[in-house]
Amino acid sequence: MGFLGALPRLLLFERGGIEKLPDIISELGLSGRCMLVTGKRFAKSSGYLDKLRGLLESAGMSRVVIFDRVEPNPSANIVDEGGRIAAEHEIDFLIGFGGGSAIDTAKGIAVVATGGGSIINYFYPVEVKHSTMPIIAIPTTCGTGSEVTKYAVISHGYRKNVVLGNGLVPIATILDAEVLKYLPKDILAHTAFDALSHAIESCFHVRSNELTQMFSVEAVRTILENFMRAYDGDFEGRERLLYASMIAGLAINFSGTVVVHGLGYYLTEKYNVPHGLANALFLPQLIEYSSERMPEKLVMLCNRLGIALDDPGACARAILRKLDELRRYAVLPSSLHEIGVPEAEFEKLVDEGLSYRRNIENCIAPPSREDVERMVRSAFRGLTHD
Ligand SMILES: [Fe+2]
Repeated sequence: MGFLGALPRLLLFERGGIEKLPDIISELGLSGRCMLVTGKRFAKSSGYLDKLRGLLESAGMSRVVIFDRVEPNPSANIVDEGGRIAAEHEIDFLIGFGGGSAIDTAKGIAVVATGGGSIINYFYPVEVKHSTMPIIAIPTTCGTGSEVTKYAVISHGYRKNVVLGNGLVPIATILDAEVLKYLPKDILAHTAFDALSHAIESCFHVRSNELTQMFSVEAVRTILENFMRAYDGDFEGRERLLYASMIAGLAINFSGTVVVHGLGYYLTEKYNVPHGLANALFLPQLIEYSSERMPEKLVMLCNRLGIALDDPGACARAILRKLDELRRYAVLPSSLHEIGVPEAEFEKLVDEGLSYRRNIENCIAPPSREDVERMVRSAFRGLTHD
């Protein structure tokens, strides 16, 4: 076993932890000019924008620049624009406040502001080697895991592109469950399924190891146990999901995602299907596939979740039943038909899924074209428990 990965230098998980932002800044020795990267609506309407501005002023920043142009599925143009503004203002460090989009935008801005050029120049298979600007990540959803990972996902021309490098790992992360009080139920459900996908896909990744499995199992268990009450608005349940999404992020930080993410990207880019929901629509197919092609891993996951079965088919059914319970509870669609994707998209979905080669080839048993066709066919119908 071997692995190499970067982690945040400071990781604060505490209710009301945002109030400690000045302490974190001081402990990290950060000073000067700061850019706050966030979306247009939530930060302002919730009062967090003013709160953060106040905290940054009290921390003695010489300048606070607000970049509130983050959009869902952030585009290369927005990142480049943020990078230009950050360079112009000679920004010293960044704060990403929001869902995965805000944190990924902050990461992209850091890459461009320090390395120059456009974020397009840094898309995988390039690996970002320069150490980027410090980022403090404050997630407001419970799915992305971006607050602890080396990845940023940036949209460009109907494609999701990954920018990766250990320098993208935020220097500090503040996980404050208070912010999740505002999270609408549907977004909570989508993002929780994103975290669930990270944790499960990581188990079938070639770099899965004892460390990532520990994170994966704990994340899956925690999500299964807390999803429903979190969906109903229970604060502790939401706090547990915030914890689970962070550790699922740790799992993929040392391994990665596989075919579910690769297949889901096109749905998001073309049909605007939220990222987590797109994953939810393909996750059952990975479970079924794993029961045939990666049975030991599936049985391991099941057993470590406390499901004492040794038949891979029975394990798959047990996990599918649990996923289905959550899906039904949150009234999420179960098939591509249900969300209105036309059958005519079949070939395109297969081609696009296969085009994310990293997600295909990093699977312990890389799916063939026929395998992917089978998954997409099944996703059109929906693979539910009964
Ligand atoms: Fe994801």
